[in-house]
Amino acid sequence: MRKPLVAGNWKMNGSRTSIQALIEGIISGATDLEGADIVVCPPFVFLSEVVQALAHSRIAVGAQNVAIPEQGAFTGEVSASMLKDVGCEYVIIGHSERRALYGESDEIIAEKFASALALGLTPILCVGESLEEREAGTTENVVERQLASIIQYNGIAAFSNAVIAYEPVWAIGTGKTATPHQAQEVHAFIRQLLNIQNASIAAKIRILYGGSMKSANATELLAQGDIDGGLIGGASLSRDDFIAICSAATKV
Ligand code: PGA
Repeated sequence: MRKPLVAGNWKMNGSRTSIQALIEGIISGATDLEGADIVVCPPFVFLSEVVQALAHSRIAVGAQNVAIPEQGAFTGEVSASMLKDVGCEYVIIGHSERRALYGESDEIIAEKFASALALGLTPILCVGESLEEREAGTTENVVERQLASIIQYNGIAAFSNAVIAYEPVWAIGTGKTATPHQAQEVHAFIRQLLNIQNASIAAKIRILYGGSMKSANATELLAQGDIDGGLIGGASLSRDDFIAICSAATKV
């Protein structure tokens, strides 16, 4: 049995004040939600205080990005060892916004994945197709290419301590959610790809869905056999929505 995981990707949102209120709300809302693992991913500058605020809770903290090198003259970058030092356990790697807006290639993402793993951080690897790619019928090719580059660089064993998030780019922040059937199809495909190389990793790995998941559609998505949780953007900024999704995850 895979324990569901719900991760909130706060992106570049919030202030010290708003985040404090959000955290307090999530802590109180999550007390009876032991059936799901919960992670929040604040912007870098708030990581330390969020880790401290969550110290006595069961909610883990992740970062939204990581540098490839471990230290040195890399102005503006934050390394895996720094994330580890402040108490992060997870890091989102290869989010479509990083791929599209910051030029992160499959190769860069594979190296970031390696840097995270080397320091004991659990990567949440995002994969997913654009609208053009879906319409051209190449969804599976895109997802396969994105996964293959990670496997080639890191080996299949690297997935024994990783999470995958399938996030169709056309569903992110658009209010258009993949139907449970569309999402399940790709999730099953991803698991099948991993299964070819290692059945036990494929059976154990958590594959999250991301892309306009909210309280209103979470139950149906999470009920699919290969959907093991969610990577939540917009709805993770609302305490009530985020808790409702976490609660839905504990019931499937
Ligand atoms: P969304 O974002 O829930 O706002 O669509 C998901 C994500 O980008 O991880």
